[in-house]
Amino acid sequence: MDNENRYNENRTEESGSRVAPERQSLSKYVPAPTASLDEWKRMQLIYSAALKEVNTKLEILNAEFQMAHRYNPIEHLSARIKSPESIAKKLRHQGRAVTVENIVRYINDVAGIRIICSFTSDIYKISDLIRKQSDVKVLKIKDYIANPKPNGYTSYHMIVSVPIFLSDMTIDTKVEIQIRTIAMDFWASLEHKMYYKFEGNAPENIRRELKECADLVGFLDRKMMAINEEIQKYSNEEEEGVLISESLRRLYGMVNEENDVKETVVQDGKPAVVIDLDEAQLRRVDDEMEATVAKKKLFAMPKGRKATMK
Ligand code: GTP
Ligand code: MG
Repeated sequence: MDNENRYNENRTEESGSRVAPERQSLSKYVPAPTASLDEWKRMQLIYSAALKEVNTKLEILNAEFQMAHRYNPIEHLSARIKSPESIAKKLRHQGRAVTVENIVRYINDVAGIRIICSFTSDIYKISDLIRKQSDVKVLKIKDYIANPKPNGYTSYHMIVSVPIFLSDMTIDTKVEIQIRTIAMDFWASLEHKMYYKFEGNAPENIRRELKECADLVGFLDRKMMAINEEIQKYSNEEEEGVLISESLRRLYGMVNEENDVKETVVQDGKPAVVIDLDEAQLRRVDDEMEATVAKKKLFAMPKGRKATMK
């Protein structure tokens, strides 16, 4: 199966328990100089765990974003583990022996996640959120949106490493993250099809037309983003821009372990609020907050429509 299509397979597995502090290279965990079947299996386990970890992070970020901004920046996700044949082919193409050491060092996309967004702005939001995760190391960035490839390809690529916690060691594992809009993904699928069909030697007219389509994709993405920004202006400003951490701090941040300590909180620069709540009360505050937000949403009148409502 080819690389582009393999992203449609989701092969994540259970990750190990989170115990050991010592960080190891994957090649130490899979020590032999050439990869046997057992070693491939071990490698797959580690890379699958890495995919699962990044996947979970993204799901949480998406849910948080949904709560704060009332929309999902992630349209959908797909993940894949590169097949042993593709890995071997890539190493041989690089003139390197197929060893675990070389796979770990030179193949950045054994584990790959593709994130599809609606808008270009979402791509940068998501990449920022990934970067801010304290256990994620960003190893490499390729911004093909700011710098499209000559054929017209656009996407945002990150190579990151995440710690995988096994029973007796922690292994930093690389994951390739590709972030694109729906339109960019549509284009990339067709370009990929063309590339494979003609084995890299596509007729000039097809390449030219695809390049024209890439320009249209850029235009469409910019236009759709501008329209979305315009639509956003009509939503209630108070509902916008409050991340969960912020709202939690507003509501619960002042409640500490003893539960009976009163602290003051300044809300939106207005006079302090004193909070001293038990669990039942907190739950009620939660419900009330939900109800308030729902009410606001229900009655918020789009600015543009007000004039025509007489
Ligand atoms: P590999 O392409 O993975 O060998 O590594 P690289 O160093 O060239 O990485 P790069 O970040 O440029 O590309 C990584 C992946 O992005 C590729 O494996 C493809 O999945 C995708 N990609 C890059 N360029 C193109 C392109 O021109 N067309 C399409 N359809 N996909 C591309
Ligand atoms: Mg690749």
